[in-house]
Amino acid sequence: MTLPTPAFVLEEEALLKNLRILREVQDRAGCTIILALKGFALFHSFPMVRKYLPGTTASSLFEAQLGHAEFGGAVHACAPVYRPSEMPELLPLVSHITFNSLSEWERYRPLVAAAKKPVSAALRINPEHAEVATDLYNPGMPGSRLGVSATELGPDLPEGIEGLHFHTLCECGADALDRTWEKLESDFGPLLKQARWLNMGGGHLITRDDYDVERLIARIQDIRARYDVDIILEPGAAVAWRTGYLVASVLDRVERRGIRTLMLDVSFSAHMPDCLEMPYHPTVRGARLAAENESGWRLGGMTCLAGDWLGDYVFDQDPGVGDRLIFEDMMHYTMVKTTMFNGVPHPAIACQKIDGSVEVWREFTYADYRARIG
Ligand SMILES: Cc1ncc(COP(=O)(O)O)c(C=O)c1O
Repeated sequence: MTLPTPAFVLEEEALLKNLRILREVQDRAGCTIILALKGFALFHSFPMVRKYLPGTTASSLFEAQLGHAEFGGAVHACAPVYRPSEMPELLPLVSHITFNSLSEWERYRPLVAAAKKPVSAALRINPEHAEVATDLYNPGMPGSRLGVSATELGPDLPEGIEGLHFHTLCECGADALDRTWEKLESDFGPLLKQARWLNMGGGHLITRDDYDVERLIARIQDIRARYDVDIILEPGAAVAWRTGYLVASVLDRVERRGIRTLMLDVSFSAHMPDCLEMPYHPTVRGARLAAENESGWRLGGMTCLAGDWLGDYVFDQDPGVGDRLIFEDMMHYTMVKTTMFNGVPHPAIACQKIDGSVEVWREFTYADYRARIG
């Protein structure tokens, strides 16, 4: 079948490969790895994912509802802040909940204690150690609002707190975790001894080819042996890393002051926001980035945002109107962040199954656009 464009296409085989790696890490390290829905929430794939991961982590009530209804298993919650009106609905869905401040813990402590189904509470801590260069993605930045510092917390875990949670990595290797752990252990060591579980957040790019899985496993085994805590990891990106693409069409070509632009039926701002936020250049199949002084093509997004473009790509063969472009690695932090700014059509969502067949899971219409507004 010919896919409509634009379309996000999940490659089931690639997802399976990642899931097998994550299963092996859990088995060998003796830890739990759950899916961070903020990074990847494509629930049509959950029947496969849940065979390898025992649950999800949610950063909001909606994500907790999705995890509970579509994934099953354990649902953890870790949000920068919770809405009081949502707590009665949230608590029955979750097994673990992490609070971002001591004041929030105090505020919700009676509700947690009164929950019909036991909920294990934790505090998010901040080791104040940065591994991420881009501030937009760096919870370790000075004055970060994310996580309690060691000085704020003091030598004892507040009564009722059973877990500790930190998240300061983003697309990092096991070496970054080791450095973070060193700081964390020196600042929070006595508290770790009092905790029953430690959630090491996301940002571990375990499924990247050069990730040092042995180093991660050794680190987890060492922490477990010395602190007697259950270890949880909650990656999003690592689950969906290189598991699919976004296919787009060239609708027009324009040239202004010698700059050539391919006008596409996708938008970086609306459909691939990390390209502009991080920023980074995605891999485009059959193309490479232009060298300095080499003339390439700008890729132009279809919204009116002046900065909705990426430059400059050199193609094996210059694309013409009607040709298709494939943006690689477009499963994580895309569908969960997309918008319909300008009323641009949202890409369809499809799956290339292991047997090679392609299924279109969802196409979007005017009704979807309208429903988001009123
Ligand atoms: C608290 C928390 N956990 C997990 C994740 C998932 O991180 P990643 O997708 O980089 O693995 C994030 C990402 O922002 C996060 O904030």
